[in-house]
Amino acid sequence: MGGDSNQKLEGPDLALGMAMEDVPEGGLRLGHAFGEAVLLARRGSNVFAVGATCSHYGGPLAEGIVVGDEVRCPWHHACFSLRSGEAVRAPALNPIACFDVAERDGKALVLGKRDAATVRLADKGPSSVVIVGAGAAGNACAEALRRERYAGPIALIGAEATGPVDRPNLSKDYLAGVAPEEWIPLRSEDFYREREIALRTGTRVVSIDVAARHVRLEDGTSLPYGALVLATGASPVKPPIAGIGAAHVFVLRTLADSRAIVAKAAGAKRAVIVGAGFIGLEAAASLRARGLEVHVVAPEAVPLARVMGDAIGALVRAVHEEHGVVFHLGIATQSIEADAVVLANGERLAADLVIVGAGVRPDVTLAEQAGLTLDRGIVVDEGLRASAPGVWAAGDAARWPDARTGESIRVEHWVVAERMGQIAARSLLGTKVRCDIVPFFWSAHYDLTLNYVGHAERWDRIDVAGQIASRNAAVAFRRGDKTLAIATIGSDHAGLEAEAAMEREDEPALRRLVPG
Ligand SMILES: Cc1cc2nc3c(=O)[nH]c(=O)nc-3n(C[C@H](O)[C@H](O)[C@H](O)COP(=O)(O)OP(=O)(O)OC[C@H]3O[C@@H](n4cnc5c(N)ncnc54)[C@H](O)[C@@H]3O)c2cc1C
Ligand code: FES
Repeated sequence: MGGDSNQKLEGPDLALGMAMEDVPEGGLRLGHAFGEAVLLARRGSNVFAVGATCSHYGGPLAEGIVVGDEVRCPWHHACFSLRSGEAVRAPALNPIACFDVAERDGKALVLGKRDAATVRLADKGPSSVVIVGAGAAGNACAEALRRERYAGPIALIGAEATGPVDRPNLSKDYLAGVAPEEWIPLRSEDFYREREIALRTGTRVVSIDVAARHVRLEDGTSLPYGALVLATGASPVKPPIAGIGAAHVFVLRTLADSRAIVAKAAGAKRAVIVGAGFIGLEAAASLRARGLEVHVVAPEAVPLARVMGDAIGALVRAVHEEHGVVFHLGIATQSIEADAVVLANGERLAADLVIVGAGVRPDVTLAEQAGLTLDRGIVVDEGLRASAPGVWAAGDAARWPDARTGESIRVEHWVVAERMGQIAARSLLGTKVRCDIVPFFWSAHYDLTLNYVGHAERWDRIDVAGQIASRNAAVAFRRGDKTLAIATIGSDHAGLEAEAAMEREDEPALRRLVPG
């Protein structure tokens, strides 16, 4: 996954017009105008024209769906306003082009491109906003505050040496050597400067005084806040395996981690991945792309089965085996030595590079010290407010009440973290918002992409439409009479339809998608 879809100009020249009856209600038509790919969409008597290429990774919006006044991208579900081109939902952060359209003699004619609207800041909201954590949620929150016309000071404070990065890429194209490093920062330094977002990298917040409303930084200075957003994310778990601290053993969370693995891989022949979760397996695929011999060790019998079920897990294993990965499943790692990983049965797997992918733990140290309510994450309400006044939390660190099941959930998904950051921004500005996100994530292994919408920690039935082995399937995870989540393989459209149906709480539509 990744790169630009490099769309060639296809379809009619929409500057010359398209018959209105050829633009179906709620559908999309691809054409071009003025040398650019353009989409036409119709809602009732309104016809819209917008750019046809997603501003995230260049996904083909003509293969997406229209929901209300928005078009949604098939690849990672970004949403754009058909009225303005604005990116209304992550993961896209930039707008797409928007064109004026006229109706003449029964034809829709695309006129010129509209100028981007200038945001005029308004005098509303807290005296200042401090965001702790310059990752997916923190960055999206800071950007959304300015888009929502907040004029006060914003400090975005991150412990990593770099500003916000495209973290999902760190185990995929970047680690595989396909994506250059200049693709990795989410934004340039100029971007933050122009928007007066004070980005402080390499800076850790060490404590919060929720009564006095200030945070203390590791250099001893204090920073007051009107509103505080905790977007501290999660940190890799380091299981108590002898030798885990050795220099050839890595975890994978930050750009620095990924860089270090790339540097080590340059002189390495054999890698062992400890853990068969998403990150470990994506790293396995990337190291195979670099020509390393790769072994994966994990205690579970089927990779990813806890999240995706046995059948998808078996497919993922088979795809990795086709690419030469060797699995050692159902067995624990006993120790890591300078040149080998030793398994519980005494077997030694030669390794000059080891990556431990044993999951992550939400980063709640600050919240705990500040006395905020915790429950396997920072507990927030539907407006993402934490238990102290003036404090919000978003992203991997936060646990929120899921609007669909009534259960409190915490997820570790890129798109969700960004959307939570955007919701926290509106919430702290006083807009009545509800975190009613239907979670979405994707994972990529070679040419296999898995998409997943919803949230199913436990299920009592799995129903399948299509063929998992032929990589064309939608798989529903059900509890009682409710569809909790749908995973799709080779069918991005079904994933979008499932997400929209879950948002509408339309169980019959989900049953049509995956009968069971
Ligand atoms: C290699 C990799 C690949 C992934 N691939 C996918 C994928 O394909 N699809 C998907 O949906 N999800 C993926 N994820 C998960 C996704 O990246 C996370 O869910 C997302 O980054 C969470 O965003 P966040 O803002 O909550 O946390 P983060 O992005 O982790 O940001 C939190 C930041 O807070 C900082 N911080 C913590 N404490 C402090 C402090 N006291 N002071 C200052 N700063 C602090 C941390 O250093 C960090 O930079 C992947 C994750 C990794 C690591
Ligand atoms: S390419 Fe469109 S959401 Fe990622």
